[in-house]
Amino acid sequence: MTAPTPLIAGNWKMNGLTAALDEARKIAAGAGAAKGRVAICPPATLLQRLGQAVAGSAVLTGGQDCHPEPAGAFTGDVAAEMLADAGAALVILGHSERRAGHAETDALVAKKVLAALRAGLEPIVCVGETQAQREAGHALEVVTGQVRGSLPAELSGKAFCVAYEPIWAIGTGLTPTTSQIEEMHRAIRATLRATFGAASDPAPILYGGSVKPSNAAEILHAAEVGGALVGGASLKADDFLEIAAAL
Ligand code: PGA
Repeated sequence: MTAPTPLIAGNWKMNGLTAALDEARKIAAGAGAAKGRVAICPPATLLQRLGQAVAGSAVLTGGQDCHPEPAGAFTGDVAAEMLADAGAALVILGHSERRAGHAETDALVAKKVLAALRAGLEPIVCVGETQAQREAGHALEVVTGQVRGSLPAELSGKAFCVAYEPIWAIGTGLTPTTSQIEEMHRAIRATLRATFGAASDPAPILYGGSVKPSNAAEILHAAEVGGALVGGASLKADDFLEIAAAL
């Protein structure tokens, strides 16, 4: 099996004004030491300037969402082509905050994945169960269903990541046990194998949800964990670099 290319991606969410470019510069200065790829996904307003701030370093940039269409009358939306034009290499899609706050379905996420591919972006497709779904014993079924529904067949042979982010672990300080993470990541890998065959083996399965310097090494060394999607801790260069160094 081809080993996945690990990725540590920072999801800045709706955080970051011009002053945050200093943090990005610090991340750029230290990112070369990481064993895998390092990316920052800032708000769209900072994407181009952040790309310029980290130019020449190992840091990749990404968007946090895109519209399925390449252009048009979609007030407030951003096209995948616009992200690519602003220097992005990646785009986060189907984050639980968009699934919950913007009613995004698996089918819509799958359309956005096609848009990302059209624009030459590597999609990071997020999946994850709620606390109630886990307590009811449905976590595996919910997440593997999201994987099947959100990843179109066109991804076969293309670069992409899946990010497993249990909703109850995002921004809460709670994390699943290592064995819960491994169980879910193995189930996601099996679903990818069943859908795409060996063509999906290079796709890393990231873990996301309260990753911080103190738990990064244990999480990143768990079976089938190919990196992390980091929210809060990615806003501070020192913390983010410490997480990237734990790969
Ligand atoms: P967190 O967020 O690291 O702040 O929990 C992760 C995410 O939502 O991607």
